[in-house]
Amino acid sequence: MNATKLFPLLLLFLLPAGIIAGAADSPRERIALDAGWRFFKGDAPEGGTNLNYAAIRDWILPTANPFTTNGWVTRPEDEPVAGISFTRRDFDDSSWRLLNLPHDFGVEGPFDQALPGATGKLPWFGVAWYRKAFDIPESDRGRKIYLDVDGAMSYATVWLNGKCVGGWPYGYASWRVDLTPYVDFGGDNIVSIRLDNPPESSRWYPGGGIYRNVWLVKTAPVHVAHWGTYVTTPEVSAQLATVKLHVDVNNDSYADAAVSVKNEIFELKADGGKGQRVSSSTTDDLKININITPHQSASIQSQTAITNPKLWSLDKPNRYVVVTSIFQNGKTVDSYETPFGIRTIEFTVTNGFLLNGQRVPIQGVCDHSDLGALGSAINERGLERQIEILKSFGCNAIRTSHNPPSPELLDLCDRMGMLVMEESFDCWEHGKTKNDYHLLFDAWHERDWRAELRRDRNHPSIILWSIGNEVGEQNRPTNFWIGAELTAIAHQEDPTRPTTSANSDVKSGYNGFGTNEDVFGYNYKPWEYGKFRGANPDQPLFGSETASCISSRGEYFFPVTTNKAGGMADHQMSSYDLYAPRWATQPEAEFTGQDKYPFVAGEFVWTGFDYLGEPTPYDRTSRSSYFGIVDLDGFPKDRYYLYQARWRPNFPMAHILPHWNWPERTNQVTPVHVYTSGDSAELFLNGKSLGMKTKGPFEYRLHWDDVVYQPGTLKVVAYKSGKRWATDVMKTTGPANELTLKADRTQIADDGQDLSYITVTVADKNGLLVPRSKNHIKFEISGPGEIVATDNGDPTSFESFQAPEHNAYNGLAQVIVRAKAGEPGTIKLEAEADGLKSATIKIKSK
Ligand code: GAL
Repeated sequence: MNATKLFPLLLLFLLPAGIIAGAADSPRERIALDAGWRFFKGDAPEGGTNLNYAAIRDWILPTANPFTTNGWVTRPEDEPVAGISFTRRDFDDSSWRLLNLPHDFGVEGPFDQALPGATGKLPWFGVAWYRKAFDIPESDRGRKIYLDVDGAMSYATVWLNGKCVGGWPYGYASWRVDLTPYVDFGGDNIVSIRLDNPPESSRWYPGGGIYRNVWLVKTAPVHVAHWGTYVTTPEVSAQLATVKLHVDVNNDSYADAAVSVKNEIFELKADGGKGQRVSSSTTDDLKININITPHQSASIQSQTAITNPKLWSLDKPNRYVVVTSIFQNGKTVDSYETPFGIRTIEFTVTNGFLLNGQRVPIQGVCDHSDLGALGSAINERGLERQIEILKSFGCNAIRTSHNPPSPELLDLCDRMGMLVMEESFDCWEHGKTKNDYHLLFDAWHERDWRAELRRDRNHPSIILWSIGNEVGEQNRPTNFWIGAELTAIAHQEDPTRPTTSANSDVKSGYNGFGTNEDVFGYNYKPWEYGKFRGANPDQPLFGSETASCISSRGEYFFPVTTNKAGGMADHQMSSYDLYAPRWATQPEAEFTGQDKYPFVAGEFVWTGFDYLGEPTPYDRTSRSSYFGIVDLDGFPKDRYYLYQARWRPNFPMAHILPHWNWPERTNQVTPVHVYTSGDSAELFLNGKSLGMKTKGPFEYRLHWDDVVYQPGTLKVVAYKSGKRWATDVMKTTGPANELTLKADRTQIADDGQDLSYITVTVADKNGLLVPRSKNHIKFEISGPGEIVATDNGDPTSFESFQAPEHNAYNGLAQVIVRAKAGEPGTIKLEAEADGLKSATIKIKSK
């Protein structure tokens, strides 16, 4: 065992805590509460403005008491509204829809042209209710019973057995309500949750519903507080890492609690299992003994060290886990696990970002939290697949624009080696839409921010806390105190990471706004980097949001203009990757800025994935965005290869665009562009050389502008430092002949959650994707699986995501299949379209 000594330090802070007596002393249980909810879209007959946030705020605010330093509030004694039928135990909800969480009612549609494009043309707003009955046995009497909600969109209010328990308005927050005072021990309990998702509250598709996981947590009266551990590694070398452990323990009982606390550290395996123990406070003299008075909390700090630590890095995301045990009267009354990683991070003024002392250029993307056709309902495999796709083109960082993400995303980033810039808010006091967070900011920003920081500060993947995106305060000096306050809160909760914000106003770099963040982020200002450095010689800098290039997969419009305002036709964007809105830039403008000013730490491209909503420049008519490097389904656009060429310089690759099926362009000039990680390339059309091209300074693509279209074969041979490096071929295809099906995974778990993503290709008789094909495809599934969604990545498509049929878009469609829980077997998916050979694929579910 490579443990060294553990040095217990003891600090006691007295804080108020909940008031509940009890003697049950078994350790915590955390039970998934996702299955079997009843759902109703609409309000209770007694509902209305009397249940709106403004009316019941006093019952909601106390939920956030642990996250405010000066705003502690007590719940009023009476009920906000008596006798709401939907909250009553005897209410008959059998006619309500039965479903499992996570659930997004918005994505179920239908799409409606009358609804705003900015939020995806989907009905995600309005009041909705969820109810669930669950048993709490008599043997739980004396324990604390909590409901942990990872996210509900939005303005949630919770009742248990007809009594208002609390709630939380911000739809991206995770929160806990204490059910204990209202629990019927030894009986059936009914939890009812009312959501009130206001229209005009978002600039993108937010989803609606309880769209993340929900948990029932049972603890002994003496237990680790909510998100009550904090692990830091103040000194790290190859030989030794010091590990500081901070544990908050609550005594929610009427008696003094004499407890001892033990922390053990284990290696954490990639699959989440525990490896060998590396450190522990096992001997009596190292055990921390404390006495906690009734209804108080104690903060315990101790320190240990790990010899030869296995560092967390992008290639080797090694992790450890602290197991905290609390003993009372000779019994273990709580056991709590905190995964963490050992690494150093530093933003420098001259040399960008350093991970473990080595420069790592930030090759990041901004992403919203929807999962395309799944909407905002969280799915772990959906998130994992997103990260796999991002990594495949060399992306190493995600900005969770513009809000806290699901806990699962952060766990995956930790596990898979992905950096995270975690954001809090899209606005402060100055709103961007009528009903957005500015209405909550004054009462909630401290509560939301502390809760976010406390939930997430143990994740090694997180390298930056973002206090906001393009906030309206950037050029309002009388409001600059807000940035100072948010940074101060971040430093209190987590002194180990810098803060930043994403700034769109060029003045924010000079007018004092930016001095309230540790690392400065410019949105879309690559030309400004040199000037910024001159004016701010001591502040690290990065591109917090870049490019915003817009393109539709597989669309090419002629003549090819290099004017960024061009490239529009038929509600689609040409995929030559030259087009961007007024405030944005071509991708290469940012590459140039990064290369001219190498002190800049890197960039976060807007966006990795297309997302629901914000379909600029077709905001009035389309449903999903054009900004993605990959489309809504994760299919690569041409831009995928532009970023891959830059971000994976040692990966031999070349990519030709456009496709080569242009019968109507025979003998017309049809420019050919090539993205390659090589430095030069020769292009051939039907075996004839069209010449060799070499990238000049600040050039990132090769292009042959006068190619005259003839059907046949384009071939590119790329070179690097004079050596043959990579090739790509683009052929004119024959007519569409067949469908082909390919699954990202042909074996999935039969847990009712795991997914197989199946790509449907319209192919010619040689199996080549036929460009521009839009065939209508029907799907049939048999065996223990179900189709959860179908799509094609077309931002203009209003076809239902749930229908077992879909048009192809430029040769591709997608079917997302889920295995039924507890029913192993073979799932069979068939696809057929008029005039094409059909296809079948088998997925094993185990
Ligand atoms: C930025 C904004 C993003 C998104 C993007 C589109 O200004 O921060 O949320 O709207 O523009 O280009």
